[in-house]
Amino acid sequence: MRFSTSLLVPVFAALALAAPNVRTISQNHGTIVEPTSGLVPTTDGSLPFSYQDSNWCEGGYTPISVWLLDYAPTTANLNATGQFTNADYFFGSFLIANFGLPPLSGSQSPPTSLTLPNLSQYAAGSSLYIAVVETANTCPPGNVPAQYGLTSTEITTA
Ligand SMILES: *[C@@H]1O[C@H](CO)[C@@H](O)[C@H](O)[C@H]1NC(C)=O
Ligand SMILES: *[C@@H]1O[C@H](CO)[C@@H](O)[C@H](O)[C@H]1NC(C)=O
Repeated sequence: MRFSTSLLVPVFAALALAAPNVRTISQNHGTIVEPTSGLVPTTDGSLPFSYQDSNWCEGGYTPISVWLLDYAPTTANLNATGQFTNADYFFGSFLIANFGLPPLSGSQSPPTSLTLPNLSQYAAGSSLYIAVVETANTCPPGNVPAQYGLTSTEITTA
């Protein structure tokens, strides 16, 4: 079966026009190594943290942002700049150096632990989520909008 390319052109033109207003979501994402799923934070209010980036566009440096949420997030919860508008806490933005590159001056490497806010507002046994948004800003052809990938881990309050 053959499709007429002349029929497809208007469709692509419409997509191209719509693109600047659309979140550039990727299904790619890295792996939250720590905390492990179901972990109960210690009473000192910190969590071990380790994230293995996907780096799906093979950039030298990978920006990530780390969040605390009281719902299981999906990419639909991200706004146009790859941020949650509805988050319980923002741990910060960090830059992962890939390929053995040195950290960029002025950037912050991901911490090995996250200091939690006071969780006493949540009932014991509540599910909270540590979410990591990974940004890819080096995807071909080079001047495309940044792409955002998401992963999360459930933790349980004491
Ligand atoms: C996305 O959300 C963040 C805060 O959560 C906000 O600062 C930012 O302006 C929002 N971006 C857009 C494009 O709405
Ligand atoms: C957390 O908040 C509760 C209620 O506001 C308070 O009683 C408690 O002392 C706080 N804990 C810490 C470690 O600040």
